[in-house]
Parts: sequence; structure tokens; C-alpha cells
Amino acid sequence: MKNKILVTGGAGYIGSHTCIALHEAGYEVVVYDNLSNSSREAINRVSTLIGQTIEFIEGDVRDAELLRKVFASHEFFGVIHFAGLKAVGESVAKPLLYYNNNAGGTITLLEVMAEYSVKNLVFSSSATVYGDPEILPIDEKSKRACTNPYGQSKLTVEHILEDLTVSDDSWSLIALRYFNPVGAHPSGQIGEDPNDIPNNLMPYISQVAIGKLNKLSIFGNDYPTIDGTGVRDFIHVTDLAQGHVAALNYLDKQTRPSEDGTAQNSVGFLPINLGTGKGTSVLELVSVFSEVSGQTIPYQFTDRRVGDIASCYASADKAKNLLEWQAELSIADMCRDTWHWQSMNPNGYNLS
Ligand code: NAD
Ligand code: UFG
Repeated sequence: MKNKILVTGGAGYIGSHTCIALHEAGYEVVVYDNLSNSSREAINRVSTLIGQTIEFIEGDVRDAELLRKVFASHEFFGVIHFAGLKAVGESVAKPLLYYNNNAGGTITLLEVMAEYSVKNLVFSSSATVYGDPEILPIDEKSKRACTNPYGQSKLTVEHILEDLTVSDDSWSLIALRYFNPVGAHPSGQIGEDPNDIPNNLMPYISQVAIGKLNKLSIFGNDYPTIDGTGVRDFIHVTDLAQGHVAALNYLDKQTRPSEDGTAQNSVGFLPINLGTGKGTSVLELVSVFSEVSGQTIPYQFTDRRVGDIASCYASADKAKNLLEWQAELSIADMCRDTWHWQSMNPNGYNLS
């Protein structure tokens, strides 16, 4: 097995957890990240956790020259491409930045991969490509429609990947559509470390629990859901990390040369949901977090957040059938590990 993987965005939240899972599964990892939304400290901690120094290259995926140097000096089996910007609100204010970074960066990466005949890619897509779903649970054949530049940049990349496999059938490009990643490594050493005030629910709850923020605002209590609050498919980040290992294992199996050593198969463009298949409401999450942390989470109901949808949860069947992967961890596990990380690192990776 050729086992060296380039992990773009590997210093980030999901990337850092995936580096550990990849190492444990026998893959060798090279991280490439411009640290625009992450810290070198995350890589140091991953190295400590796995007992081995991770090779780290500080660089931008839009820098073709640097990428060429990296591909020339390593023989990669494939790339996991996490590098991207992810703040929905910021994407509305700075659409060019988001298209340039997320779509432009992916084009540059694919061009360099083609030059070096590395044709296996696992791309970080998002449930956001489904927009407001007509049918729940959402399966991979559901209509795709986005409402903001961040989502559009992910959908654009999916279209680029699809078009590429039509033009050249030697590509194997898996788009993993993540639902709502939360939680942290059980060691409490790595986790989500948002700059500024968090936009997302779980980091907001944990910062209220630790006393950095006073009160959670729950955006709407009049949705057609179990208790009127939004419903999402929260998935533990370590389960998500295992999903990437499963995707690479699948690529390895599918693209292995045939017995006579000639033919190589490819999988084309393959979109796969990574979710648990279960929906949890905002109020349910707050209640479980409060229970496992022993902290009170004060909250108030406010208006709905513009662009939010009532409910979103995955059909997780395709991942189970094709990748032989399914999420294992519960909402209580997600809350417990988030709280462990938050209480051990009240200031995230900022050690000062
Ligand atoms: P993150 O911001 O923690 O990680 C992304 C990493 O990419 C960061 O380390 C950042 O420094 C790096 N990066 C950004 N632009 C880069 C560039 N041009 N060149 C090199 N490195 C660059 O985010 P995350 O939560 O770990 O998300 C990883 C991926 O998954 C992103 O593409 C994101 O859009 C996608 N995703 C995330 C979520 C979520 O809720 N966290 C949901 C769906 C999809
Ligand atoms: N919410 C609150 N208060 C907050 C934050 C969130 O009530 O302070 C509610 C939202 O209204 C929503 C739910 O909590 O009902 C989840 O909101 P998040 O912001 O945590 O997550 P979203 O589902 O809105 O979006 C996330 C990522 C997107 C990604 C999407 C699907 O932010 O980038 O999941 O993967 F596309």
C-alpha cells in the first residue's frame, strides 16, 4: 500500500483529528496549511499524541510553486483537502475571498496533482450544499441548492470535481458532505478553537459553560420541530476523522492494480454524507451538555437567524454500504469531550 497522504488544512479542527486517525490506521501524513485559521500548536500536540513528529509545511493551496516542490519531494497516494474558509457570515461580506480561497485553491491543487499524476482526492464538502432540504433524511441524490457564498464555493468545487472525472476517468474524487462536526479528541489536547465569538452552537455553549460568555441566544423557538428549536445532525469529530480513513481505504481497494498488474480502476466523482442519521434539537443539546458538564447554561430565545433552516439530518446509508463506516459516538460523548477540551484549554491554543 502506498500510504503517504498530503493533508491540506491539517492544522485545523477536523484536519488535526484526522491526522491522528490516519496515523493510527498506518498512513503517513504530511500537513500543508497556511495557518490562516489555526495554530502551529495543534500540530505540536498531534505530534505528541502520536509520539512522532508530523511533517508540516506552512503554505497556501493557491501557491502552485510551493505545491510543486512538495509533490516533487514526496510520493503521495492521495490528498485529503480540508483547506478552506468556513464562516458563512464572512463569506457574505467577502465573497471574492471565499471563491478565491475555496474554489481557486482547489483548482490550483488539482492542477498540481495532475502534473504529478496523483489522482486520488478526498474533499471536505458540506451538508450546506443541500440548502433547505425537501425530504429528510437527506440522501446524496437530493437536490443541491445553496444560499450563501460559502455554500456556493463548496458546490462549485463539487461541480469542478464532477467535470474533471468526465474529462478524464482516471480521477477518484470523493466529496465527503459533513453534517455538524462537534466534540474533541478524548485526550482534551486538541479541539475546536474559534477566533473571536463562536458562530456555531457547540463552541458557543461550551464558552457559556466556562463563563467566557454570559448567555446563549437560541435563534428561534417556532420551527416545526420537536420543541420549536432547530434540529441538526451533530457528529463527533473523531467519528468524522474515521470516515476519512474509511474513504482512503476505499480508494486504496478500488484503485489497486488488477492481478495482471495493468488495469487500474477509479471511482470517478463520489459524494458521500458523513452524519449519524439522527437529528438533535438545540434545546436537547443544551440539556445534555448541562448534564454532562454539571454547569448551568443560561439561555434566551431570540429571533431566527437569517438563512437558517428548521431541520437537517443525513441518510448515512451510503457511507455504511460503500465505506463500511458509521458513526459510533453519542450526543453525551460529544458534549463530554467538548467540555473536557474547553475546561483543560479555556483559551484554546493561545497559551499566553
Ligand atoms: P478549520 O478552519 O479549523 O480548518 C481549515 C484549515 O485550512 C485551517 O487550518 C486553515 O488555516 C487552513 N486553510 C484555509 N485556507 C487555506 C489555504 N488557502 N491554504 C492552506 N491552508 C488553508 O475548519 P474545519 O472545521 O477543520 O473544516 C475543515 C474543512 O471542512 C473546511 O473546508 C470546511 O469548509 C469543511 N467543513 C467544515 C464544517 C464544520 O462545521 N466545521 C462543516 C462542513 C464542512
Ligand atoms: N444556534 C443557536 N445559537 C447560536 C448558534 C447556533 O441557536 O449561538 C442554532 C442555529 O440556529 C441552528 C443550530 O444552532 O439551529 C446549529 O447552528 P450552527 O451554527 O452550529 O450550525 P449550522 O447548521 O447553522 O451550520 C453548520 C456550519 C456550516 C455547515 C453546516 C452543515 O456552520 O458551515 O453546519 O454542515 F455548512
